[in-house]
Amino acid sequence: MSNASTPRPPAADRRPTDADQAALDQALAGLPIRRDLLIEHLHRLQDLFGGLRPGPLAALARRHNLPQAEIYEIASFYAHFEILDENAPDPRPLARICDGPICQMRGADDLIGRLEKTHRLRRVPCVGRCADAPAWLAVPQPPTPIAASRLAFPADDPLRVLDELEQSGLRGMGGAGFPTARKWRLVREQPKPRTLVVNADEGEPGTFKDRHLLIHHLPRVIAGIAIAARAIEAEAVYVYLRDEYADLIPALESAFAALPDGTPPIHLRRGAGAYVCGEETALLESLEGKRGLPRQRPPYAAEAGLFGRPTLINNVETLAWVPTILAMGGKEFAAQGRHGAAGLRLYSLSGRVRNPGIKEAPNGITTRELIEEFGGGMEAGHDLTAFLPGGASGGLLPARLADVPLTFGTLEPHGAFTGSGAVMVFSKADDLRQLALGLMGFFAHESCGQCTPCRMGCGRALDLMATPRWNRPALESLAAVMRDASICGLGQAAPNVFLSLLRHFPELVG
Ligand SMILES: Cc1cc2nc3c(=O)[nH]c(=O)nc-3n(C[C@H](O)[C@H](O)[C@H](O)COP(=O)(O)O)c2cc1C
Ligand code: SF4
Repeated sequence: MSNASTPRPPAADRRPTDADQAALDQALAGLPIRRDLLIEHLHRLQDLFGGLRPGPLAALARRHNLPQAEIYEIASFYAHFEILDENAPDPRPLARICDGPICQMRGADDLIGRLEKTHRLRRVPCVGRCADAPAWLAVPQPPTPIAASRLAFPADDPLRVLDELEQSGLRGMGGAGFPTARKWRLVREQPKPRTLVVNADEGEPGTFKDRHLLIHHLPRVIAGIAIAARAIEAEAVYVYLRDEYADLIPALESAFAALPDGTPPIHLRRGAGAYVCGEETALLESLEGKRGLPRQRPPYAAEAGLFGRPTLINNVETLAWVPTILAMGGKEFAAQGRHGAAGLRLYSLSGRVRNPGIKEAPNGITTRELIEEFGGGMEAGHDLTAFLPGGASGGLLPARLADVPLTFGTLEPHGAFTGSGAVMVFSKADDLRQLALGLMGFFAHESCGQCTPCRMGCGRALDLMATPRWNRPALESLAAVMRDASICGLGQAAPNVFLSLLRHFPELVG
């Protein structure tokens, strides 16, 4: 994981000048000096000065009583922090442009050619606007208003809530699909104080449902947060929002401020461009003001999570379904599923379909049904050849498997998974080998580097995949090591990229 610009940690700690201290004070504008606010301090400096300069960084290190090298280590972990040297910065405005598979398909390279004349461009893996591909963001982003609507504040009995959730069959929509009621019960069994963490990092390329919910269904999300906080008797709530959604911060802050007395305090924190921080323990580290390095488990977050306290971590969509389930009844919600799966879910549909976008559909719908019933069919002139059922990590499947239900457990026998429900659709106009190389490049870039099988394995896989005829035994043994010995899901799932090509598209790889 590295920053776009080259960080230059000072050889010896530099003495901050009065001007450096004043610049820091101006940026922080009264924000307290606490370790867990360190990422926000870096954001404030960057927001004000267009990047991180050695002087104010030295002042920040002194204020935190940390070595400057540690401040550089943290800042350079996050791709969105621009570490500058003493020279005058490039005056052009900063822009982030997605060069992920769907934006590439829709002409990202042409857009890059046009934008680089006027902007300092950063190529990034996904900006969470896949239905509008090719997508890019001006930085800082102007705020996006969210229409104010009345919030419903439920006063449900926590035990009834848990029963309804149990019956609804709701499972985590962040990717891992852990049964939600069971997770809530596990946290409730732990001693107080307990914390709720809302995962709004939405980093899986091709996933843009959480943004949709925050903009179009914020009252549902907030009601879900309030119900979860009450059910586990949380004393604090932390919402970790991906930096690409910083345009939503003003609207979210005012919605949180309107919560009634008795709701635990809600702290809104932004990420800084690290995909791995969506992984729940990396997210906790980031919330604590550190690099987002996933933790070894046990202990699990339910026992020792944020600041060592029992912590419930849920995805935005998971929480948004909770008020719907209580209104509809758990059994009725479960009955909305298809092909044996329970409930509803949001699929992020993109690629070669007529109407890409967020589709609220029965959980367990097949890819073919999703495309036909919700996506308006394939784009004119394109036939389905392949699809990614679960974003970058969920494996690549051929059209002949488009009738397999898109839910937890059904795709695994085919070497794939549904994850966060990001379905990306391809036709023969798309180069699948190139797609696979791009996905593996993404994992190599986003690996936090903490464990050798993932750090070395992603790079080694890229080398092996660059050869005209892939070395199947070498790739298969590499996959076994990565799956068995990686600390987190990033390194464990990354081999899906090449394994799925070896299994389903052998003709493409020699
Ligand atoms: C590399 C990696 C990235 C992840 N990114 C996200 C993410 O962006 N958003 C999310 O909700 N879950 C993400 N997850 C899953 C979380 O670790 C966790 O399972 C989830 O937040 C739990 O909430 P849920 O039970 O409501 O799904 C990621 C997992 C891994 C391994
Ligand atoms: S698997 Fe990869 S991303 Fe996860 S902890 Fe190991 S090196 Fe970091």
